[in-house]
Amino acid sequence: MELERADKIIDRYQNKQGILIQLLLDVQSEFNWIPKELIVQISERLQIPLSHIYRVASFYKGMSLTPIGHHLVQVCLGTACHVRGGPKVLDKVEEALKVNAGETTKDMNFTLRRVNCLGCCALGPVVVVDGEYHGKVTSAKVEEILATYK
Ligand code: FES
Repeated sequence: MELERADKIIDRYQNKQGILIQLLLDVQSEFNWIPKELIVQISERLQIPLSHIYRVASFYKGMSLTPIGHHLVQVCLGTACHVRGGPKVLDKVEEALKVNAGETTKDMNFTLRRVNCLGCCALGPVVVVDGEYHGKVTSAKVEEILATYK
């Protein structure tokens, strides 16, 4: 099933040059991650070395080689967020989701990531859920924020 869906994506890029990044982004968008079997499939069908595909897929932050939950929670621990209490916010998110940064909840609902500076330091500590920014987050606000995504 997954392989058939991937075949349809690969079909769109057959016989085209310089398409790997866009192809991988399409796979990421379709499956919410890039499974190993699909990397092998892409490699075989488009004659692209496996090592090259892995290098590209692990370079871009928008691509993931491990399953990602339905919601992506990013907690900023850049300098500004760190001094304003980011570590406490991260502790609270880890406690609430029962995962450590870098992990996905067992129900695949949330993936938690720790990031360095999201470019809005004045709002720190910052938490981003599915691209939606939450500024001046305190540990007390964490449950309330997460509840809106459950
Ligand atoms: S340090 Fe967190 S947004 Fe810049």
